[in-house]
Amino acid sequence: MVVNFKSYSEIHGHGALELAKICEQVSEETGIRVAVCPPTAELAYVARSVKIPVFAQSVDPYPEGARTGWNTPSLARTAGAIGTLVNHAEHRLSDGEIGKTVGICRTIPLETMVCADTPRAAAGVATFDPTYVALEPPELIGGDISVTKANPRSITESVEMVRNVSSKVGVLCGAGIKTGLDVANAIELGAMGVLVASGVVRAVDPKGALLDLLKHL
Ligand code: G3P
Repeated sequence: MVVNFKSYSEIHGHGALELAKICEQVSEETGIRVAVCPPTAELAYVARSVKIPVFAQSVDPYPEGARTGWNTPSLARTAGAIGTLVNHAEHRLSDGEIGKTVGICRTIPLETMVCADTPRAAAGVATFDPTYVALEPPELIGGDISVTKANPRSITESVEMVRNVSSKVGVLCGAGIKTGLDVANAIELGAMGVLVASGVVRAVDPKGALLDLLKHL
């Protein structure tokens, strides 16, 4: 389970650490691996305070050096992140930038979870040999209809098409995931995990929401 904090008002300031601690508690209570993606400004603060995996929301495709204002993979790693999202629907990169980012991250090392909007795009980004590919149809992001309900075939197709490129790349899916059944169906359809944002970050009771999402696993 990957919880993407995005830039929602709920996680500004102390909210990011509070939510990361909740994710850590739920991971300990359920035994399920929960990773968090805080924004860059809170990355080091969160990563130094929890034991669960922390991913950056993005990094820029540059090595360390004279790079004013850029968020290099090396900075994310030394801040405590073990990985990064790449090419999220809200932070698109060109194919060239995706390849360069994944390549630099591999040398750090920093795990990469590259987002794709279709099964074909998922297979395309798998050729860069990232750690994970995440299918996220942009039109479903932030809504109440999950990718597992709207287009279950896109998940099985992504898994199949990525498998044809590499057996090492893990496939996850996300967008509109709001219930435990959505998560269970995603796993049933072959995904190794899910990405969720609004269903947890914006929930009145984030801990209850997260436990609910994981209840059928
Ligand atoms: O990265 C996960 C995210 O894009 C999904 O958002 O709000 O549909 O769970 P949401």
